[in-house]
Amino acid sequence: MNFKGRVAVITGGASGIGKAAACEFARLGADLAIIDTNEAGAQQAAAALESPGRTCLSVRADVGKAEDVEKAIEKIRSKLKRIDFLFNNAGVDLVAPLLETSEEDWDRVIDTNLKGAFLLAKEAVAAMLDTGSGVIVNNASDAGLRALRLNTAYSVAKAGLIHLTRSIALDYGSKGIRCNCICPGCIDTPLCQQFNVDLGARQGKSGEALFQEFIEQNVPMRRIGTGEEVASLVAFLCSDQARYINGAIIPIDGGLTAGI
Ligand SMILES: NC(=O)c1ccc[n+]([C@@H]2O[C@H](COP(=O)([O-])OP(=O)(O)OC[C@H]3O[C@@H](n4cnc5c(N)ncnc54)[C@H](O)[C@@H]3O)[C@@H](O)[C@H]2O)c1
Repeated sequence: MNFKGRVAVITGGASGIGKAAACEFARLGADLAIIDTNEAGAQQAAAALESPGRTCLSVRADVGKAEDVEKAIEKIRSKLKRIDFLFNNAGVDLVAPLLETSEEDWDRVIDTNLKGAFLLAKEAVAAMLDTGSGVIVNNASDAGLRALRLNTAYSVAKAGLIHLTRSIALDYGSKGIRCNCICPGCIDTPLCQQFNVDLGARQGKSGEALFQEFIEQNVPMRRIGTGEEVASLVAFLCSDQARYINGAIIPIDGGLTAGI
């Protein structure tokens, strides 16, 4: 795989899976734009990947806000000229059942995880239509494939992201644009660690103890995944080797969602 001359936009690239994806795209030769609300983290991630002949931009933007997204894409298109790949990855979790989910919580989770991908995809598809090609990868979750307990807003957002993927694939496949969705299981990142702490607190257990128990009982491969493993899948889906994959929903979870 060689992404030299291609431009990848990665949301939530300051941490976790997004940061690993930024490293992988840079390793494969792409120019990059990292979008994140964590300005310092995005700057650091971009600076670490910048090299002679490779541009890595960092842009502070809240993906759930249309004005932020428009400005970010304007900056990216003026500096990098094109968008070949979009990895819609920015996300936030919330451990709460329906009755403990406030309207504010709901909006924050849906706006970040679902509306953000919609806003970015609109901008990216417009740019991709100008060049006649492009690939979008949406980062959903095992929670999008079947709801997780105590995870209402997040599970709903991720299920929506799966159908957003299919809708884009249906409407723009004929224009040279592919759109696919990945559904990670437990991946070793700050978001996953916090999820376990929050869930553990409800059950009077430490996040670590709860997590080990969960992995032992539910993940056939008996281990957590890494951001690098997810990044390899994202890069593959963007590559020409995946040129006939469109509208696919792909779990990457060590077998977590294979069955009960
Ligand atoms: N880690 C897992 O186990 C796991 C499992 C399934 C799905 N996911 C999904 O993977 C994606 C990445 O998560 P991660 O685990 O790497 O988490 P993370 O917390 O390490 O990274 C998330 C990044 O998104 C950024 N972000 C949050 N809200 C934003 C906003 N409104 N606008 C722009 N940036 C924003 C954060 O600042 C952070 O840099 C998320 O969509 C998450 O739902 C993660």
